[in-house]
Amino acid sequence: MDLFEHQAKELFAEYGVPVPAGKIAKTPEEARAIAEELAAAGTSRVVVKAQVKAGGRGKAGGVKLADSPADAEDKARQILGMDIKGHTVHKVLVEEASAIAQEYYFSFLLDRANRTFLSICSVEGGMEIEEVAATKPDAVAQIPIAALDGVDRAKAREIATAGRLPQEAIEGAAELIERLWAVFVDEDATLVEVNPLILTKDGQVKALDGKVTLDENAAFRQAEHEALEDSAAADPLEAKAKAKDLNYVKLDGSVGIIGNGAGLVMSTLDVVAYAGEQFGGQKPANFLDIGGGASAEVMANGMEIVLGDPAVKSVFINVFGGITSGDAVANGIVQAVKLLGERGETVDRPIVVRLDGNNAEEGRRILNEAGISVLEQVDTMDEAARRAAELASAGV
Ligand SMILES: Nc1ncnc2c1ncn2[C@@H]1O[C@H](COP(=O)(O)OP(=O)(O)OP(=O)(O)O)[C@@H](O)[C@H]1O
Ligand SMILES: [Mg+2]
Repeated sequence: MDLFEHQAKELFAEYGVPVPAGKIAKTPEEARAIAEELAAAGTSRVVVKAQVKAGGRGKAGGVKLADSPADAEDKARQILGMDIKGHTVHKVLVEEASAIAQEYYFSFLLDRANRTFLSICSVEGGMEIEEVAATKPDAVAQIPIAALDGVDRAKAREIATAGRLPQEAIEGAAELIERLWAVFVDEDATLVEVNPLILTKDGQVKALDGKVTLDENAAFRQAEHEALEDSAAADPLEAKAKAKDLNYVKLDGSVGIIGNGAGLVMSTLDVVAYAGEQFGGQKPANFLDIGGGASAEVMANGMEIVLGDPAVKSVFINVFGGITSGDAVANGIVQAVKLLGERGETVDRPIVVRLDGNNAEEGRRILNEAGISVLEQVDTMDEAARRAAELASAGV
């Protein structure tokens, strides 16, 4: 889960990382009130910053300086409602303007390829680090961090020095880097990025921007993270699936997919996309893994989510009986159709079922005898994918 800049900065502040004073506004009037508060505290110049989970906000006109509260209101009016890379700006951060002497780049991230943590530091900050890395590779230091050693002050100094920060910024940067490491570890983050990290004209080092990605696999031990979720942005079907503990990802095709086991579902997506090429480019509408031991209720919940997507024109249920036997799955499907009917959600689109593996024969018999008119069975995965794509193209 990615955080908004203001959330990242609130987190940084909890760990003692210096950030500019500021608050969130959802209307131009609120922006003015915050600027007035900051002015009363002695800061008349503020920066109004679009809060969207996308990079390059400055370039898109989403970061603006304002000289007075009235100006802040004006700038907020320009930025609110703006579209930045497909994200609508619903809120702005109004914060004190810093007197910048220099801008640097700093981040901690998970380097999956090398199975380690990595810190990246550069004296060339403010712009995209990929660009700096391409044009001035020598100016970008990449220092691996051993998980068991972590980052103490000495290591932090080593990183800042390798990034070629000037002498007057090293100590301040090292202190900040050490605290960002605590954020990275204690919050179970996979990315903590500060671009720019600045040296102010009076010699302080501060985080002027913040990008944090939290590892959702750690949610079980990070109870407070749930409150950071942006419920407004979540796809409504994904949110509903999450509430039901289903592994669902919305995609943009027309063939609804339900399978047991992530690997099987992934390959089902490939096979459907391939088969769909013959039928005007029909593609999978979603990823949905109902897991092993799927009960009728889980199957019903899954079918409800998939059929809740109006883009779905056919559904492909691909199940390989392993621990769960085919007859249990078949009974699950039959009961799911019944359950959906009782919930007032008649199954009105064609369903293709491919059942194989443990006790598949008995499962197929149960499905045949149930006489569900919209359901047909196909023996092989390839053939079932082809049929589902064909039915989807007929339904479009
Ligand atoms: N509080 C501030 N005071 C002074 N200048 C600021 C302040 N915040 C941002 N700026 C200036 O605006 C530039 C862009 O800000 P920021 O890094 O937050 O946005 P961005 O880089 O455009 O967004 P993203 O990191 O999402 O691509 C900074 O490099 C800095 O020069
Ligand atoms: Mg930035």
